This record gives sequence, structure tokens and C-alpha cells, in this order.
Amino acid sequence: MKKLAVIGCGGIGAYHLGHFLDYKDIELAGFCDLIPERAQAFAEKAGSGRAFTDFREMYDAVGPDMVFICVPPYCHGEIEFETIRRGIPMFIEKPVALDMDLAYRIRDEIQAKRLITAVGLQCRYAKIVDDTRDFVNNHRVTFVDCVRMGGVPEVEWWRDKKRSGGQIVEQTIHNIDMVRYMMGEPAEVFTLAARGFVTDWVNYDTDDVSTTSVRFESGALGSLSTGCYAKSGEAFDSKITFSAKDCRLDHYILSKVNIYGLKGDGNADNGLVFRGDGTMQAGGGAITIKEDGSYGGIRCDRTFVDAVLTGDPSQIRSPYADAVRTMEFVMACNRSIETGLPVRVEHH
Ligand SMILES: NC(=O)c1ccc[n+]([C@@H]2O[C@H](COP(=O)([O-])OP(=O)(O)OC[C@H]3O[C@@H](n4cnc5c(N)ncnc54)[C@H](O)[C@@H]3O)[C@@H](O)[C@H]2O)c1
Repeated sequence: MKKLAVIGCGGIGAYHLGHFLDYKDIELAGFCDLIPERAQAFAEKAGSGRAFTDFREMYDAVGPDMVFICVPPYCHGEIEFETIRRGIPMFIEKPVALDMDLAYRIRDEIQAKRLITAVGLQCRYAKIVDDTRDFVNNHRVTFVDCVRMGGVPEVEWWRDKKRSGGQIVEQTIHNIDMVRYMMGEPAEVFTLAARGFVTDWVNYDTDDVSTTSVRFESGALGSLSTGCYAKSGEAFDSKITFSAKDCRLDHYILSKVNIYGLKGDGNADNGLVFRGDGTMQAGGGAITIKEDGSYGGIRCDRTFVDAVLTGDPSQIRSPYADAVRTMEFVMACNRSIETGLPVRVEHH
């Protein structure tokens, strides 16, 4: 049986492990964390495999056929280079790096070795993504409106923008990646950010809220807003609206889509449509398509594992090189915040 290893046994590592427990065709062989108890707890939960604190030692001892790299944003580099050197296919959590030069070097080495990779942009794997893609392919989307409002995660490194990359890079990346997946490459962004609204965390040094204007290479425009000031779930939001001339689609990440302005299949709820002049009217009915929320993440992991088992990476929706393109987008937003100027998004 092929052997799977994990580096980084924290929050997202536990999420993946929950999926691996259902795999009957994979040996859960090694778990590595700088904190020994975390790796040990994973081995106990898996009921197999050994715990390590050094990933090189784990590679020597276990010889994994694939690895899930689930470390925080500032910990990338050494692990990937060693994994590439050994030719081990890798699944890497987003954001893949905070330094674009590092991301480009890793991408190029992956390319040279033709290594199978996937990045944890699991929202791409939700079934509703296919409905949104159909909509975008069949209508000329002029404007996209993306919101990601939430709170401050518990992990300590997150509150330090130097180590996490900040809200846009760390969290809104899922929404922005979905926008890019549908709309194509951004040409230019202008981002404003504000602080002073989040007051109840120590060692907090990141933006509380930001808003980005974007022009896509297609000529369409977008408005992307993001925040971590919210404390109640009632204040949270995560929606992307794709608007065309006579219809629009609301994509709620991993949850549902509402389509307005198209004829339904007889099951349509009543919907509301904003008219061009700003008034709102009852539409022809919104078509609602619901998602099984856990499906995207399960399919994301399994797609990578199947790619390694079969040697065919064609079903992977976010290989490393593509995730680097999304990094170019989010890092350009950060650069715009720093400079106070519009930034052209460069693709290397
Ligand atoms: N795809 C998603 O939806 C999703 C959700 C949550 C988190 N994430 C991403 O996963 C990453 C990790 O987040 P988290 O919440 O699990 O963080 P975490 O702090 O809970 O866990 C990270 C673990 O990595 C370990 N680690 C760091 N460097 C290591 C090294 N060199 N060798 C071995 N272990 C090492 C740490 O000790 C820690 O236990 C972040 O980049 C985050 O953005 C993705």
C-alpha cells in the first residue's frame, strides 16, 4: 500500500486526518510536528504510523509516497525543496509562501521534476462550482462582487501579518481564488485597508478590514472586501456575485448558489433582482442549488491521493503553479495597501 505522511499536525492537519481515516487503500505512515505531542496524537488517532519532530528523519524512516504539508504560511521553503529533491508528490496548504521569489523557485523545481502537486484551495472542488462555471461561460460577466467577513482565528501566528500574510492572503484567498478561477487573471488592483476596529487580542498586528478594486484582463471589474473584525456569526459573510447584463449568480463558498434572471426548473424560490437604476424588484425566481458543505474538502484531498495512485494529475484543480497565480493576485493587494497606489499584477 502507498504510504502517506503529514507535516504539521495542527488545525488543518486534523481536518485532513479526519478524511484520511476513511481511506482503506492508503497506509497512514508518518506524522511530523515540531511539537511532539501533536504528532503523537495524530498517530494515535490514525491507529498507525510513527510520530516525528524532524521531517527529514520521517522521510528517511518512512519513505512516504505522498505528503500533506500543513504548516503556517511563514514556514514554507526548506520542506518543499527537500520534498522535491526526494521526488515525493506533495499537497500543500494555502497560502503556499509569503515571498513570491520563493514560490517561483519552488514552482520551477516542481516543474523540472514533473512532480504531482495540489494546493488546499478546496472550494474549487464543491459541486456548485460547476454551476457557477456554466453560468460564467454562458454569460458575459461584467462585474464581480466578493465579500469575506469573519473573525480572528485562534492560532497565534495569524495575528502577525508578517507571518500570516494578513486577512487577504490568509483567508480571503479562497474567495479570491474562486473569483480568479471563474474570471481569469487580474490586470490591476487597488486596495485600501484600515485598522483600529479589532481591540481584544494581544500581539495583534494586521489589518481589520480592506477593500480592493480590480480590473481583470478581460476588461471586467470587481470589488473584493474582506475583514476579520466580526465577532458574531450573524456578522459573517462569504459571497461572490457574478453579474451579467440580464442575470446574476450569488456563489456562497462551499454552501449554495442562487441564480437570478434565468428560467428555473419548476423548483425555483421567489427571488429579488436589483435593477440597473438601483431599485429592487421581484425577479423571475431564483434558482437555488445547495451544496453538501464537506464535499469540497473531501474531494480535494481524495483527488490528490488518486492522482498519486494513478499517476494522472489531470483532475487536480489547483496544482502548485496555478496556486502561485492566485498568490500573485493576493500579494498585489498587499503591495497596494503598503504603497497606497494601484498595482499592476505581474505574472512570472
Ligand atoms: N484550506 C483551508 O481551508 C485551510 C483552513 C485552515 C488552515 N489552512 C492553512 O493551513 C496552514 C496551517 O494552519 P493551521 O490552522 O493548521 O495552523 P496550526 O498552527 O494549527 O498548525 C500548524 C502546525 O505546523 C507545525 N509546524 C510548523 N513548522 C513545522 C515544521 N518545520 N515541521 C513540522 N511541523 C511544523 C506547528 O508546530 C503546528 O502544529 C495555514 O497556512 C492555513 O492557512 C487552510
